[in-house]
Amino acid sequence: MAGKRFGRAIIVGASSGIGAETAKQLARGGCVVALIARRESELNALAETIRAAGGTAFVYPHDVSDFGDIPALFQQVCRDLGGLDAIFYAAGVMPRIAVDEFDFAKDRAMIEVNVLGAVAWLNEAAVRFAATGAGTIVGIGSVAGDRGRRGQPVYCTSKAALETYLESLRNRVGRVGVRVVTIKPGPVDTPMTRGLDKLPLIIPAEEAARQIVAASERGTRVAYVPGIWRYVMAIIRAIPSALFQKMNI
Ligand SMILES: NC(=O)c1ccc[n+]([C@@H]2O[C@H](COP(=O)([O-])OP(=O)(O)OC[C@H]3O[C@@H](n4cnc5c(N)ncnc54)[C@H](OP(=O)(O)O)[C@@H]3O)[C@@H](O)[C@H]2O)c1
Repeated sequence: MAGKRFGRAIIVGASSGIGAETAKQLARGGCVVALIARRESELNALAETIRAAGGTAFVYPHDVSDFGDIPALFQQVCRDLGGLDAIFYAAGVMPRIAVDEFDFAKDRAMIEVNVLGAVAWLNEAAVRFAATGAGTIVGIGSVAGDRGRRGQPVYCTSKAALETYLESLRNRVGRVGVRVVTIKPGPVDTPMTRGLDKLPLIIPAEEAARQIVAASERGTRVAYVPGIWRYVMAIIRAIPSALFQKMNI
């Protein structure tokens, strides 16, 4: 089923990987995009690509852990875009963690970027959209949020937290017509996963973005990307904790 195309969208975490591809595909569909991340040169290069293809893009260098800057920046972006139909929160970090490593600095970065940055940006969008009874909020979670795996304790925690936040947001603002979409990708070929051991069912970022845009336009509540992960994770979630502890996944 085809969904409603977005006219103006914010993409937080637009400088590479899933966020960059999502921005390109939205722009190709006629959406005016605001590109947000720390690396200005990557954002400018992406904006040039979008403009060369006839699209419109604005660039805002920003670190999502500068939480205090977010309310004013959000308002500025909405003014520059001339309104807002959708926001995609794709910013995320997953530093490499050794199996015996406990590094609070890495853990803190994951909570700040993957959770608190999302809350700070999406709260702003929720207030704006709830006031008009329209708009779509999209958060990029992960299949990693479905279980606490030994390899990435805080990455898994951050994605579980994000998904619970998004569900609560949906239950708050869904009743006034705002859509909240939780995207749960399996492995995607991006800078985040480069250099990792062979990952199961890995897909290109272009394909992930295609499915993310389609699910967001349809207003799907929770979309696994690709869809097969819904069934894989249903099985993995059903594994008793004592057995899961013995497994190397
Ligand atoms: N790749 C996968 O297999 C996979 C699977 C499931 C879920 N995900 C999730 O998908 C999302 C996108 O990841 P990706 O794979 O596309 O990785 P990526 O290519 O490394 O992209 C991460 C994005 O987050 C931005 N970011 C990181 N820290 C930031 C900060 N402090 N402030 C602002 N922006 C920041 C980066 O921009 P700057 O560095 O320029 O700031 C970049 O645009 C993440 O939430 C990730 O957890 C990925």
